[in-house]
Amino acid sequence: MREETLPGGNTTGAVLIDGVVHKRAAPWTATVHALLRHLEEAGFDSAPRALGIDDQGREMLTYLPGETIGGREPWPDWASADSMLVQVGQWLRRVHDLTADFTPPADERWFIGGEMGPGLIVGHQDAAPYNAVVDGGRLVGFCDWDIAGPSSRSWDLAFSALSWVPLASPPDGTPSSSHDPQEQSRRLHLLLDAYGYDGDRRAFGAVVPQRARRQAGVIRRMADAGDAASIALLPIAELLERSAIDVEALPDAFWLH
Ligand SMILES: Nc1ncnc2c1ncn2[C@@H]1O[C@H](COP(=O)(O)OP(=O)(O)O)[C@@H](O)[C@H]1O
Ligand SMILES: [Mg+2]
Repeated sequence: MREETLPGGNTTGAVLIDGVVHKRAAPWTATVHALLRHLEEAGFDSAPRALGIDDQGREMLTYLPGETIGGREPWPDWASADSMLVQVGQWLRRVHDLTADFTPPADERWFIGGEMGPGLIVGHQDAAPYNAVVDGGRLVGFCDWDIAGPSSRSWDLAFSALSWVPLASPPDGTPSSSHDPQEQSRRLHLLLDAYGYDGDRRAFGAVVPQRARRQAGVIRRMADAGDAASIALLPIAELLERSAIDVEALPDAFWLH
């Protein structure tokens, strides 16, 4: 059967066979599939559905129809559109609300992190433009649930804010119009408003650098252990660490609505 490699994988990558996504499974795949089934049962259709494991041990997922960033540089315009940012905030809110009552299987296991518990939600943890599927101006959903796991709401939102607002520093060090602090602040609040975030936004501002450093730390630890995909992501770890410093330097007013 013909396997078509899908563009844009950052780690394992995925192939399409007869319209079904196949991807190398991991020790936490069973828990992630239980999560995807939980979302499906709740009528949520903006995530892939889990279809089980193929005869090579790969996970199978439904293909979300639409456009992805794939390998494109620069990113398409929708990645910086206000209307997309609003849909991302709404999408995260629905996922968080729907996962607050998720009961993991007895052999619960996630990519990172502890167990699900009261007060937690399950965060996608990688809801960045490169995992978005878009149809015209509409956000179809996010693929790549591999690193999903128990989280606070702000912890998951902080990761998406880094890439979508963006609060992440410019890769080449040259600020562009999207890194104008006033514009960043406007877009941050647009995202949080779309989410319906009612927490303290200054406190949220302190979560963002922690979240960036945690992600960088994970990449560095896995790279040190010899993981090839993580070694390739080392420039991203550096960017996240720089972003943490830059975000910490933002004035209080940045976080106030
Ligand atoms: N369920 C899906 N529906 C649509 N496209 C998908 C789906 N899963 C993966 N893709 C495409 O394949 C690419 C690689 O898959 P992904 O799960 O993101 O791998 P990686 O973990 O290596 O980043 C994605 O960026 C996306 O373009
Ligand atoms: Mg991906």
